[in-house]
Amino acid sequence: MSNKYAVIGNPIKHSKSPLIHNTFAQQEGISIDYQRILTNENEFTTCVNDFANQGGMGLNVTVPFKVLAYQQCQQLNELARAAGAVNTISFDPVTGWTGANTDGIGLLSDLKHNQNFQPANKSILILGAGGATRGILLPLLNEKPDYILIANRTVSKADDLANTFSSEGKIDSCGFEEIDRKKFDLVINATSASLANDIPPVPAKVIGTETLCYDLAYSDQPTAFINWSYSLNAKRAIDGLGMLVEQAAESYYIWRGFRPETKPVFKLLRPGA
Ligand code: ATR
Repeated sequence: MSNKYAVIGNPIKHSKSPLIHNTFAQQEGISIDYQRILTNENEFTTCVNDFANQGGMGLNVTVPFKVLAYQQCQQLNELARAAGAVNTISFDPVTGWTGANTDGIGLLSDLKHNQNFQPANKSILILGAGGATRGILLPLLNEKPDYILIANRTVSKADDLANTFSSEGKIDSCGFEEIDRKKFDLVINATSASLANDIPPVPAKVIGTETLCYDLAYSDQPTAFINWSYSLNAKRAIDGLGMLVEQAAESYYIWRGFRPETKPVFKLLRPGA
């Protein structure tokens, strides 16, 4: 087995993936060559082919190429198909590129094993209806929550997602102002508003003292959504660093069949936690 891996995206300079995967490799007792690859939309396919031809075994795909990767893979696993996006590619000289999506599994691992939150029979509000939401819906619905409500600024996009996944469980959609239910068990911020230090205009009533708030984005400082959640006395508010580490662990497992320990890596990235 070759030991050549990489993460591809734009921008990519600050990606934590090399540190995470090198630490996983240390746990396995091997050393890997894990690079960052910067590219653009026009050169993406050539760049990935070159990497595979040079002996690349696996690639993590990040913003903004996850949908493009999905379109280019010859094989897709079930979660990648449901997500319409690929964040993990495995290369094989015979079968070509196989695409997987580990984002949803990463979220679920973090929720269930690190946050002690079991989604079964819980009420879940998801803010946003873009690629990030699409990527987590099937794994969340597979846990049999009581109810998922998707709220989005552009309501038609929330409606489309709810329709797409309606056969998998109880799922509904609306605009932010029309959220009629109070106090969800879990509120997930899947909008890109956090990146602009903004919060979606959500009624305060959705947060109760037992609510877990989860921002899919992560940052060295608490995000605007985390601060907002705590100002409304949420039980706990966390960011997506745990999900980042868990999705990487699942990628590593797909590539090498070795399941790494994630807690030490999380501590390495956030020593004070
Ligand atoms: P991603 O792949 O990160 O999900 P995306 O597909 O571009 O990115 O989706 C971004 C999501 O954040 C969308 O739901 C978007 O709302 P619209 O569908 O109405 O565009 C949401 N979003 C971005 N900025 C926002 C803001 N300032 N307030 C509320 N929602 C915002």
